Amino acid sequence: MRVRLIAVAVLAPLAVSGASMCSPRVVSGIDGLRGRVSPTRRPSSGATLAAPYEQESEVVEGTDMSEVVRNLNAISLERHRAHTVTADAPPSTDPFSLVADDIAPLSGSVCDQLSADQQTLMESAQYFFGAGNARQGKRVRPVIVLLMGQATAQPHHARAESAAADADGEGSKWYGKQLSLAAITEMIHTASLVHDDVLDAADTRRGAEAVHKLYSNKAAVLSGDYLLARASIALARLEHAEVTQQMARSLESLVQGEIMQLRSTAEERLSLEYYLTKSYCKTASLMALSCKSAALLSEHPLDSDAAVAAEKFGYHFGLAFQVIDDLLDFTESSDTLGKPGLQDMALGLSTAPVLYGIADEPDLRELVERKFSKKGDVPAAYELVMKSNGLQKTKELATFHAQAAVDACCALPEGEARDGLVRLCHLVLSHSS
Ligand code: IPE
Ligand code: IPE
Ligand code: MG
Ligand code: MG
Repeated sequence: MRVRLIAVAVLAPLAVSGASMCSPRVVSGIDGLRGRVSPTRRPSSGATLAAPYEQESEVVEGTDMSEVVRNLNAISLERHRAHTVTADAPPSTDPFSLVADDIAPLSGSVCDQLSADQQTLMESAQYFFGAGNARQGKRVRPVIVLLMGQATAQPHHARAESAAADADGEGSKWYGKQLSLAAITEMIHTASLVHDDVLDAADTRRGAEAVHKLYSNKAAVLSGDYLLARASIALARLEHAEVTQQMARSLESLVQGEIMQLRSTAEERLSLEYYLTKSYCKTASLMALSCKSAALLSEHPLDSDAAVAAEKFGYHFGLAFQVIDDLLDFTESSDTLGKPGLQDMALGLSTAPVLYGIADEPDLRELVERKFSKKGDVPAAYELVMKSNGLQKTKELATFHAQAAVDACCALPEGEARDGLVRLCHLVLSHSS
């Protein structure tokens, strides 16, 4: 049977140039963060396809992640700024309370979608969705998806105060899809954590044993796959081809992020641009593309201001979130984190605190180049980072992205949902102080 491959545009509405895929490129970041990165390895498309498929005009293009990041950076929503994270008090709206009633049934609903004949598969996939357990995590992604759905709602989506009063109306159908998207996003995130803990050999997650410790590596790989399979079915049920593409792209990104982390040259490990592209891939892309999908479900076109603002919010919020997570790896104990601390350097990873620290403590460079692989490298690097201005600079980087996320919010209509998103930007930063 002949398979028809579908063309995937690379962030078509955001594309700004047709830069060569082969030449090193400059990715713009915040001031002082410009630099050259080697091109992201581009997965083969036509080159490895059997001859009959090569003739297909529509093929699945691999996505050039550094170009995606460059295009997102090229859009500025600063003109919408109506709130400054460093000067203004956070809005009083509690984002988690705003959607608490919607988030409460999420675990149960996901568990229902994860029933399987095979006991181990079912139990391991349900592990982070088990009713009443404390391993549910912060649920940040479903919260931002639901708030973004509300912030991008159009007048005909207006939700009745009581779901029952609007049981069959447009409002509840629209919000039902937003709820599904929120659950799908958390399923993808959870699968990425289960797989990530295998890759990082991390024994704990959410304050308890990681899935691969409790079961086995093989069970964890399959359990993550099963979660992704079930998420895909739920995605198909949304019957929105564009949303399916966006969310599929976030999956591609997650995989690319983990690969970028596993396979890097010494030069790449020293590059802040590479670090930011990788952070987009492994963390921010899911937030960016699920927020954009929420806007699409609210019937905004792909290139609309609302869809672009939603994607920009998720992008910058996601980067702030990952940068702070990398800072906490240095400053918090494993107990507080609920997962291993001081882990990144032990895995050979150079994150923002180390990269910024090099300016003050040049000896760090050699340690980064050799992935902290010699005995005593990790404690030595830790001391050097703590002596440097690396943590402070990292906080500034996160603050830059949190502000850019706020600016994106401010492009959306005023209201409680928007305030909740702005408050989340404050919360991310407050976790580091
Ligand atoms: C952990 O994400 C992985 C990162 C992107 C840093 P969260 O910090 O959202 O993890 P949970 O879902 O609350 O456990
Ligand atoms: C976070 O990876 C992103 C994904 C889960 C794909 P990390 O390895 O940085 O996150 P933690 O520290 O394990 O949560
Ligand atoms: Mg990890
Ligand atoms: Mg990891």
